[in-house]
Amino acid sequence: MNDVHQLLRSHRSIRAFTDEPVDDATVAEIIRCGMAAATSSNIQATTVIRVRSSDTRARIAEIAGGQRHVVDAPVFVVFCADLHRPGLACASQGVTPTPGMTEQFIIATVDVALAGQNAVIAAESLGLGACYIGAVRNDPATVSALLELPDHVYPVFGLCLGRPAQNPDVKPRLPLEAVLKEERYSDAGDLVHIAAYDDTMRAYYGSRSGGTKDSSWSNEMAALVGTERRPHMRSFLAERGFELR
Ligand SMILES: Cc1cc2nc3c(=O)[nH]c(=O)nc-3n(C[C@H](O)[C@H](O)[C@H](O)COP(=O)(O)O)c2cc1C
Repeated sequence: MNDVHQLLRSHRSIRAFTDEPVDDATVAEIIRCGMAAATSSNIQATTVIRVRSSDTRARIAEIAGGQRHVVDAPVFVVFCADLHRPGLACASQGVTPTPGMTEQFIIATVDVALAGQNAVIAAESLGLGACYIGAVRNDPATVSALLELPDHVYPVFGLCLGRPAQNPDVKPRLPLEAVLKEERYSDAGDLVHIAAYDDTMRAYYGSRSGGTKDSSWSNEMAALVGTERRPHMRSFLAERGFELR
């Protein structure tokens, strides 16, 4: 394992931070690393909004179900999928943009995810910790209003950054065999892999330093995939110009 692999495989989300500030130059460098990620057709559909206002952060923390780290993290940014800016460039060429296509929505969302993860790796390489906040999508309309997002821009996730004030265990991942398949999709053996992983996760949840619980991956998936999650997203996206044609 080289140093980069070691860094990647040491990742764990950090939800408690020291008061040590992260200077603006470091934040800029982290975001530059995010911007260096591959991007579909060079569309660069990521816009990052840094939120310094404690009032705005408190509101977003509330929307996120009371996640204190949104308020407490030295740095909080929101990664947005932005088809407005390429639309401006398109219109400047006398061509009417068509940003409501499903394909463009996918492109923009993938771009943001890649940029976000590059930023997280850059931050972690500096000894900082990070936590994504997908819960901004609990109420994306209010977050959009707070950040004054125009149509064709939506908040994909927030990101807390700072010096870790906790040292959580690395969360085990699925066995490689469940994820890496040869030549074609087959779920043969997956239930065996899932059962093994359930045992691993039950042990992890039962002993982790950051608070224990009696659960397994399948238990968590039943709660996650077995319920309707954020059903407002479809109409929200349509209202913001992502009609998904
Ligand atoms: C897009 C995305 C959104 C997430 N949203 C939240 C969130 O709102 N709050 C939170 O505490 N963790 C959030 N997480 C962190 C995941 O819960 C975490 O990555 C996962 O449980 C694996 O744990 P690890 O990051 O420690 O390896 C999010 C992660 C991703 C990738």
